Amino acid sequence: MNPSPRQLVFASNNLHKLSEIRRMAGDKFRILSLEDIGCHDDIPETADTIEGNSMIKARWVKEKYGYDCFADDTGLIVDALGGAPGVKSARYAGPDCDPEANMALLLRDMQGKADRRARFRTVVTLITGQCAEQFTGEVEGEIATVRDGCSGFGYDPVFIASETGMTFASMDADAKNAISHRGRAIRKLFERLATL
Ligand code: IMP
Repeated sequence: MNPSPRQLVFASNNLHKLSEIRRMAGDKFRILSLEDIGCHDDIPETADTIEGNSMIKARWVKEKYGYDCFADDTGLIVDALGGAPGVKSARYAGPDCDPEANMALLLRDMQGKADRRARFRTVVTLITGQCAEQFTGEVEGEIATVRDGCSGFGYDPVFIASETGMTFASMDADAKNAISHRGRAIRKLFERLATL
């Protein structure tokens, strides 16, 4: 008989991210959401780096709720925009974190740009006991000129992954997880957890 899966809190209520990560965890880890632990806080993301915001979210859960946990923070880094939207990716078009408005603004800012290179960068922070560690994942691609596909979330319809030539929103969940920024960072996290 398999031992019961290890339980770990993921400091997010983003159902898309939860679904991606639970898919990768299989039956090895039981991933709890913030909702599952009764946390309805609007965790302030006030750092000016992706690493910093990832750390804030994980520390919040550990310090206020006492759980070993992990958190992620992601930025879309576009070369022709000097690295924007970067750490401000969620609020690129304003404080509402509206993905449609963010994509519309990005497509507008990229109009007429020949250099469309971009990458997603995710930093995952793991806190177990007193110890915090970070794991990074990146994926290279380019910004499409129009939206394509309807899977995934966020900027997926306008991000063409170099490895497949398709937008993330045109790929199925396993294909995205295999090469994505978050997939890469989360695999490192699971490899580390297997050693603890
Ligand atoms: P956060 O890590 O949830 O703060 O994400 C920052 C921004 O990047 C938000 O606008 C998300 O929608 C977007 N984002 C995060 N991960 C992905 C992804 O896998 N695909 C597309 N957009 C993403």
